This record gives sequence, C-alpha cells and structure tokens, in this order.
Amino acid sequence: MKVDVLLGLQWGDEGKGKIVDVFTPKYDIIARFQGGPNAGHTLEFDGIKHVLHTIPSGIFHENTVNIIGNGVVMDPIIFQKEIEGLKVLNVDVKSKLLISRKTHLILPTHRVLDAASEAAKGKHKIGSTLKGIGPTYMDKTGRNGLRVGDLELDNFLDKYNALVAKHEEMLKQFDFEYDFKEEEEKWMASLETLKSLTFIDSEHYIGEAMKEGKSILAEGAQGSLLDIDFGSYPFVTSSNTVCAGACTGLGVAPNRIGKVFGIFKAYCTRVGSGPFPTELLDESGEELRKAGHEFGATTGRPRRCGWLDLPALKYSIMLNGVTDLIMTKADVLSSFGELKVCTAYDYKGETIEHFPYNIDEDNLSPVLKALPGWDKDLTGLSDVAELPGELVDYITYLEKELEVPITVVSVGPDRTQTLMRETVNA
Ligand code: GDP
Ligand code: IMO
Ligand code: MG
Repeated sequence: MKVDVLLGLQWGDEGKGKIVDVFTPKYDIIARFQGGPNAGHTLEFDGIKHVLHTIPSGIFHENTVNIIGNGVVMDPIIFQKEIEGLKVLNVDVKSKLLISRKTHLILPTHRVLDAASEAAKGKHKIGSTLKGIGPTYMDKTGRNGLRVGDLELDNFLDKYNALVAKHEEMLKQFDFEYDFKEEEEKWMASLETLKSLTFIDSEHYIGEAMKEGKSILAEGAQGSLLDIDFGSYPFVTSSNTVCAGACTGLGVAPNRIGKVFGIFKAYCTRVGSGPFPTELLDESGEELRKAGHEFGATTGRPRRCGWLDLPALKYSIMLNGVTDLIMTKADVLSSFGELKVCTAYDYKGETIEHFPYNIDEDNLSPVLKALPGWDKDLTGLSDVAELPGELVDYITYLEKELEVPITVVSVGPDRTQTLMRETVNA
C-alpha cells in the first residue's frame, strides 16, 4: 500500500483536523509528519469540540494507530496537557499513539528564544505562535537538537544542560528579560508522561506497515504558503509543509506516496504577519471573519480574511501533486450575494497568472472576478444533490481552473457536515 497525504494548500487552518477525522475510518494509521504545537486542528462531533496540537487527528477512533513522526517537533508540556484533555473525554491515548524516537523536543529555552527573536524584529516580526518552533528546527538543522530517543539515554540530562547553556549564551545577544526556571520544572515533570508512551523507529514501523498492506494517511500541519522553501518567506513556518515533507517527516520514499488530498477554504485566511494579496480590509473581511469564526485555534488571534486566490492555489497544487481537492467552509460564503476570486495578479504593471517570488502589496495586486453567490443555508445538507446551483457552478469553475476534481465539500465544522462528491477510497 502507498501512503496518502492530506495537507493544507493555503496559509493553514483549512480544516485539516476535521477532514482527517472524517477520513480516519478508512485508514489503519494516521501519521503527523511536520510542525508542532503551532498547529491547532479542530474536530467536532457528538457535541464535542476539541483542538489537537501535536497528536494526530485520528486519535478519537478506536482501531486506528496514530504516529507522531520524526519531522514533528514536540513540547512535552503541551503534549501532556493534550493527553490530559483527551483523558477527560475517555480517550485512551497510550494504547493507540506511537512516537518516533527522532521527533525533536522543544525546550523551554526554545520558547524564550522565539519570543526574544520576535521582540527584536519589532514591527517586522513573523507573527510566530511563540511555541518555539523556529529555534527548535534551527537546532535540528544545526545538529544540536534533543530528540525523544535521547530520553532513553543515560546522559540525557547532560545533553539537556549543554543545549540550555548554548541557548543562554545566544540569549545574551538580545535585550530580553526571561526566567525559564518555573517552565523548566514543568518540562522535566512532563517528561514522565512522555516516557510512559511507546517510542518507535517510525520509519521502520511505517515501512513494515506498508508491506503488510496497511493503509496510512499522513497528516500535514500549517499550509503550503507557510512552507519554509516555497511560502511567503520569511513570513513562514520552519518546516516543509508540502508533500515532500511527508517523505522526510516519516521516512516514506517519494514513489510510495499515493493520493494527495489538498484542502482549501472556499475563501482565504492568514494569521500572523506577511503579504496576503486578496486580503479584505473592509467590512467584507469582517463579515467573513464573523461568519467563519476566524480566530486562531492555537492563539485565539483574529485571522485575516480575503477572497480565494487561484494563482496561489495552482502553485500549491503544483508543488504537492494534488490528486483530490477538498473544499471547506463553503457554508460561510452563503451570506454573500456576490463572491470574488483572484484569477491573476497585476505585477509591476504586468498581468501574470503565476505566484511570483515577491508577493508584497507594493509589487502586486489581485485581479478579481465576480461570481454569483447563493442564498441558502448549507449547514443542514446531507447530499451533494442538494447543493444550490450557484455553488455547483462555483465548484465546476474551480475544477476547470485548477484541473483537479473537488471530491469533498465541507459545509460545517461537524463530522456529519461533509458532502462526498466521489467515493474516497483509501
Ligand atoms: P486546521 O488547522 O486545518 O485543522 O483548521 P483549524 O481547526 O485551525 O480551523 C478550521 C476551523 O473551521 C475550525 O474551527 C473548524 O471547526 C472549522 N471548520 C472546518 N470545516 C468547516 C466548514 O466546512 N464550515 C465551517 N463553518 N467551519 C468549518
Ligand atoms: P495549522 O496546522 C495557521 C503561522 C503563524 C506565523 C507563522 C510562523 O493549525 O494550520 P511559527 O509558530 O510556526 O513560527 O509561526 O506561521 N502558523 C500558522 N497559521 N495555522 C497553523 O497551523 C499555523 N502554524 C503556524 O501564525 O504567521
Ligand atoms: Mg489550525
């Protein structure tokens, strides 16, 4: 069996958690391949609303194995809180969660470094979630990081202390006051929870599972436009969020990737700083934010909202080799009499249809096309046949432009509010 991948095509928060949860019954294994607690993946079912940060979104299903892959960075304190939150909901995490020994650990001093670095950038800050993501990946590529597998070594504390000393040295460059001792105590205590879970060599585990014919879905975090290489650099996260990240983040060979599910909102949002060509700074943006409850699942920050951006979406589809598109939040557009989509950019006086190197507003503005909206509440629909004609036209238009079928349309946050246009086979 090949490994299917589900990932975000925009700036994150496309609804990955919800759709992974919906797809989970079709898979034996759900594996997160990158990112860390900067992610907030929301699941809603049976009146429960739950946000996951590090734990894969298959965790609520009985017979599914969930894996935290080597490409992920984890903060043991946040991880412990996640486990406690799931325990309250009677989810036995221990029996169905496996953690790669190669997963990197976020230390309290990584979080301090993140905060110090953002403070030093002032108005040019990235708008990081301040979870220590950037500094942890820097230590990974700088070959200084601590990994989950190090917890099994006798000299773990020596390694920890050496890394903290390095961080304290680095922090001297910043005019930043900090005290991480209390957090350090919590961190050390939370390691006990982490150590009570099962650590694996996940690349071998996944390789064997594939041989045995098990079906596997790789769950991405963030979105392609936040990718460290291809996103709106430097306003990006510090990992490869694109499909190639599933190969390196799980140890899966490129020719073993099967379907690539690319998920996008029927409009666009972004949280944090950085260019956003279709951003609506007027009341339409406010209306989208209100209708879509666009507030960050991790930080609670209001999300910036704008129209769907086709050149950006085409770029993401190309980078990921998307085979199936999933459109979420179609219901949020119901209150708009007229919709707009960006079909091209005015780029330094020229009309272009590709996503260029520099998408700053000084260089680029969107070319917008108006489309008729639909005045129908979609949230109670249970079959695609009930979709209003204007929405069917919207979908048909997008499929023609994007050259990939939209196989799933999501019309609300709940598991049940998911319309299948084609049978999705694992
Ligand atoms: P993720 O990071 O990609 O998993 O997405 P988030 O959970 O951060 O943000 C998506 C938000 O939209 C969550 O609050 C979901 O419950 C919600 N959501 C997902 N799909 C839909 C949908 O089709 N319609 C509406 N109205 N909300 C949705
Ligand atoms: P999910 O998985 C939306 C954004 C931050 C910031 C930038 C860098 O829920 O879609 P970082 O903390 O990674 O250094 O922040 O990336 N960001 C996200 N935006 N959804 C996410 O995850 C995000 N994870 C990071 O807001 O702009
Ligand atoms: Mg999110």
